[in-house]
Amino acid sequence: MYQQPVEAQTIADVLSVRSDTAPVHFFAPDRLDARLAEFRRGFPGLVTYAVKANPTEDVLQRLCAGGLDGFDVASPDEIALIRRICPNAPMHYNNPVRSKAEIAAGIAAGVVSWSVDALSEYEKLVAAGVSPKAEVAVRFKLPVAGAAYDFGAKFGAEVDDAVDLLRHVATSGRPLALTFHVGTQCTDPAAYVSYIHAAAQIAERAGATLDRLNVGGGFPASRDGSPKPLEPFFAAIREAMSAFAVRPTLICEPGRGLVADSFAYAVQVKSIRGQSVYLTDGIYGGLSEMVSMPAPALAVMSANGGWRDTARQGVRAFGPTCDSLDQLRDPLALPEGLTEGDWIVFRSMGAYVTGVTTRFNGYGLSDPITVKDLCAPYH
Ligand SMILES: Cc1ncc(COP(=O)(O)O)c(C=O)c1O
Repeated sequence: MYQQPVEAQTIADVLSVRSDTAPVHFFAPDRLDARLAEFRRGFPGLVTYAVKANPTEDVLQRLCAGGLDGFDVASPDEIALIRRICPNAPMHYNNPVRSKAEIAAGIAAGVVSWSVDALSEYEKLVAAGVSPKAEVAVRFKLPVAGAAYDFGAKFGAEVDDAVDLLRHVATSGRPLALTFHVGTQCTDPAAYVSYIHAAAQIAERAGATLDRLNVGGGFPASRDGSPKPLEPFFAAIREAMSAFAVRPTLICEPGRGLVADSFAYAVQVKSIRGQSVYLTDGIYGGLSEMVSMPAPALAVMSANGGWRDTARQGVRAFGPTCDSLDQLRDPLALPEGLTEGDWIVFRSMGAYVTGVTTRFNGYGLSDPITVKDLCAPYH
């Protein structure tokens, strides 16, 4: 469980007296509440949350209490977690490849919507006895840019296949939806527009009327230090919906764009050797995304508690494990005068950190520390 907020406790207050060298995850709950409010105020439909992005209980409890419309779950464990923490919340099982045992767990827990991207997976759902009243959402993909990396490489039917699949699902008479994922950390609202226009065409070609359209996640966090307001995305989505003669109910299921900016993550410099730094965390821990994406903006604090403001230079960074793969893809922009024992604080680290951290070589992650805010001179 998280520590209670301490009046005026800051990241610097915590790190300047810390003797433990393990990485520290900082959580500012007010920021999470504010971002949820931004989604609920502006998104023209239902706001759900992709549990995989950050499954810590305090986050889930706050989202549940904050009036979230449901959760995107990807496994029986996530389903059980949500049933325990937010018992009445609707769940959408949007990992489109499931074993029979996983389908049974979803049925037992009352999942209300299932995504599919292949006929064989749809037939598995029907054979397993998924209720004819449960929604099936056909997931499709487009070759669209704008995100940090391509999500279509693994899931999603090609457009022509999505038309056939939607037509087939429609014969069951069950609630119908289309869904997509523009790719994570998408900074271009036009990506959503392309997908929504394609969804309208797929529905028309299939002769189907959609009950709902799930625009997925992908909304950006302020990783690079510049704010990422959501309104331009919402405005583009609202406008694009005019492509439908009969408008389906909209759903979004953000992960990163909802939680990332309410956390920061501090790792310590454990050694400096030549032009390389060795950190107390790496790709098997909270920095795992830095093999595929640039590092977020960062601030560096010296052991005496002062923020370093000297000129930055690119430095090769390694994680703490014995695996030689454990190094960051890009050099980190670190200040001159960097010293062993300094803390490097990364911003926007609330997504894909807690859920993906391993215990490899005995490293790992402890409970987050709650702070009033995440202020630091990030750049
Ligand atoms: C089906 C689905 N929905 C939503 C998300 C959340 O994506 P993001 O964190 O980019 O918002 C994911 C991420 O993998 C996903 O697979």
